[in-house]
Amino acid sequence: MTVACAPGKIILVGEHAVVYGRPAVAVPVSQVRAEATVEDAEEGQGVIIAAADLGLTLSLMQREPDRAPHPLEVTVTGVLEHLGLSTEENLTITVKSTVPIARGLGSGAAVSTAVTRAVAQHFSVELTSEEVSGLVYEVERLHHGTPSGIDNTVIAYERPVYFIRGERLETFQVGRALSLVIGDTGVSSPTREVVGAVRQAWQRARERYEDLFDRVGAIAVDVRQAMESGDLGTVGLMMDENHRLLQEMDVSSPLLDSLVDVAKRRGALGAKLSGAGRGGNMIALVSAETRDGVQRALASAGAQCVIHTEVLPETGPTLCLASSSAPAKTDDGMI
Ligand code: MEV
Repeated sequence: MTVACAPGKIILVGEHAVVYGRPAVAVPVSQVRAEATVEDAEEGQGVIIAAADLGLTLSLMQREPDRAPHPLEVTVTGVLEHLGLSTEENLTITVKSTVPIARGLGSGAAVSTAVTRAVAQHFSVELTSEEVSGLVYEVERLHHGTPSGIDNTVIAYERPVYFIRGERLETFQVGRALSLVIGDTGVSSPTREVVGAVRQAWQRARERYEDLFDRVGAIAVDVRQAMESGDLGTVGLMMDENHRLLQEMDVSSPLLDSLVDVAKRRGALGAKLSGAGRGGNMIALVSAETRDGVQRALASAGAQCVIHTEVLPETGPTLCLASSSAPAKTDDGMI
């Protein structure tokens, strides 16, 4: 039996602009995790993928030909082919996850990463982070339209990343721990739809959107420097400015705006929506003194779930779950 895990992720600055080639900064969120277990199965079973949290049991051999493959099936097929193995291996793959779905925490990429690693390790192959990220990107591409690749990258590397689509990926260390409170609006917001809406708006007003993307890109450069030097005040100010630009891109929502305001009024150094927007999560940079107050204020202002995470100067590999609670399930059973 082989077990592998992967963390969630949160984009600190740069979402949407990153799809258009500007830099973005993202960090792993190890408080939520996906876990995959691979076991040998009896001859003739083929690959069975069981995701009880999602109410799903999938059989690679018995997929109805007219049904589009589920991301988990694409993940398993991709890694088996990458390893030069048959997709008719006899395996039972069990998937669990505490990463909330469609909330900007990278649930799909986390589950695909855990499955990819577990399958490879089951055949005694230790894939590099680059290989894992590349395989997971192919799954993301099929199911999320035109992803920048930042989700699979930060989750596979499990380090803060400075990322420019198709060009540059740099992992880096923070100079001082970052304490982040993540507030979930409870509104499911599929990345594919919001990215599509931004694309339409960009097509209608190219110059205005290019200018917004440039300003977001400049923020990502400053935020990375400030994170490395431990200048949390600047990180906070830049997060505030990034939220204003995301509002101008029309990807915020009244609830996201009010959660951001509440966090700021309770003393957060900076706050913004995170991920695709229109729903999903917001994040606030807090200190030891403001953390509890911000968490409580967000919960009373309507956040469905509030979690705290820290990005430490030294980040280690994600530990597997002892047990996991069920994540929310989308209507179409997608991860
Ligand atoms: C989604 O987590 C982040 C977006 O920038 C889309 C992407 O980078 O693929 C909105």
